[in-house]
Amino acid sequence: MTMTSYAISNPTVNGRPLVETALVKAHIIAALCFFIYGLLAGLVFALQFHNLYPFVGVEELSPGRVRMTHTTAVAYGFLVNGFMAGLHWVVPRLTRRPTLSKNLGWFVFMGWQLSLVVGLLGILAGHAQAIEWAEIPTYVDPFVVVTAAALAANFLPAIWRLGKGGPLYVTLWYFTAGFIWLALTYIMGNYFPQWLIPGSGGAAITGLFIHDLVGLFLTPMGWGLMYYFVPTMLNRPMWSHAVSLIGFWGLAFFYPLNGVHHYLYSTIPMFAQYSAVIATVGVELVVMTVFINFFVTLRGSGSALRDSLPIRWFFVGMIFYMTTCVQCAYQVTLSAQEIIHFTDWVVGHAHLVMFGVFGLWVLGIFTELWPRLVGRPWWSHRALEWHFWLTALGMFFMFVALVAGGLVQGFVQKGLNPWEDYVSMSRPFWGVRIFTGLMILMGQVIFIINMVKTARSPKPVEAAAVRAEGAVAPASSVATGVA
Ligand code: HEM
Repeated sequence: MTMTSYAISNPTVNGRPLVETALVKAHIIAALCFFIYGLLAGLVFALQFHNLYPFVGVEELSPGRVRMTHTTAVAYGFLVNGFMAGLHWVVPRLTRRPTLSKNLGWFVFMGWQLSLVVGLLGILAGHAQAIEWAEIPTYVDPFVVVTAAALAANFLPAIWRLGKGGPLYVTLWYFTAGFIWLALTYIMGNYFPQWLIPGSGGAAITGLFIHDLVGLFLTPMGWGLMYYFVPTMLNRPMWSHAVSLIGFWGLAFFYPLNGVHHYLYSTIPMFAQYSAVIATVGVELVVMTVFINFFVTLRGSGSALRDSLPIRWFFVGMIFYMTTCVQCAYQVTLSAQEIIHFTDWVVGHAHLVMFGVFGLWVLGIFTELWPRLVGRPWWSHRALEWHFWLTALGMFFMFVALVAGGLVQGFVQKGLNPWEDYVSMSRPFWGVRIFTGLMILMGQVIFIINMVKTARSPKPVEAAAVRAEGAVAPASSVATGVA
């Protein structure tokens, strides 16, 4: 199997290394720490569904609080740290300039981890804000906003300076918009429903916030990273820059209108509910640009799926992405909502898009970068395969179980059957969730052991190992398609 090479070209620009590799490494490690915590919290909460909760009577570890730390840790801790690692790797390479300041990078790193740790402890202490996805206590919010602003300030100057001199590669379009949308979205969700707009208007804003956090931050960051890593890993330009830009403007136009689709059949006016349904169909078309670009670029490189694990992570993530979109086209209709609303169908969908797509891409990026960051080849390829298969299959079967269970629950509810029936019929599906959760957790433990062993193994002779694609100019020219 050909695998990631293990040395990088990191030239010095204005007396600073182009890429702050220590920051990339730190963000990867932080991402994995929050990931393990998030998985354990998910597993513990899943036990509650079987009356096996281990912390009965401990208020700070009560199931509701632990559930909130599960979602907060995986989204803000795992995914966002993973994206930040990617940003530190990609932006300097595409702009050929280092970030604004190394110290600002460390400020952001420390600020983000501290906000999260205090936020998670605050949730456990009972200080959660009563807004879904904004549960981090209100006293931590200002720090999150300052850190997010500092993150943007660290990367945007290099992007703007490059933009003044000519066209920007689509990755940088997505990142630029993602920075601006993150600040706006976070402020909107954390302050508007609670302090300014009560009632169903506030609920509409909450729906907007939940969806925009995924669509206007995770999505542009994920798509931007995909548009950089896939061409550089395949060593060929992305098929169509024009198609990727159609995707960009489509995302900007349609995504913000989606939020109310979380509240179909609610007290929010029907015209807003119908417009959310139409906008959701619009997003379906926009996501097609990503599928087309990915699969056409991959055409003729089928062997990469066998030979390159990072590409395989992206590929499986893309298949899961298509699955979520097919699912979404169905679940956004009012007739489907009658069945699946308030069931595990939605939970299955949420796991597939958050972890099955963006989580898998982040793991692909880690698999690509780690050997190059520590300057050594992977300690064990077999362990990498185990990590891949346990995670991908765990995710797949967890999704199937939750979606199937959701349908059963939906029909049980529609038939106005007793709650006991709902619970007893759901139990087998919830059991599969625990089993597949364990598979996913085991996969990550194997990965982390592999990372530690890799970092500690003796350094090989590096002379011949610098991959052309790892050097600055070829990397950006492959990604941009320009010499
Ligand atoms: C060990 C693996 C995992 C297990 C056992 C697990 C379990 C759970 C459970 C029990 C819930 C609550 C469902 C409910 O309230 O009915 C939940 C919610 C959620 N989890 Fe996980 N989870 C796991 C991994 C992940 C990962 C890796 C991610 C994302 C990166 C994720 C994202 C979410 C999201 C977004 C929700 C909210 C779903 C919703 O409200 O519709 N989970 N998870």
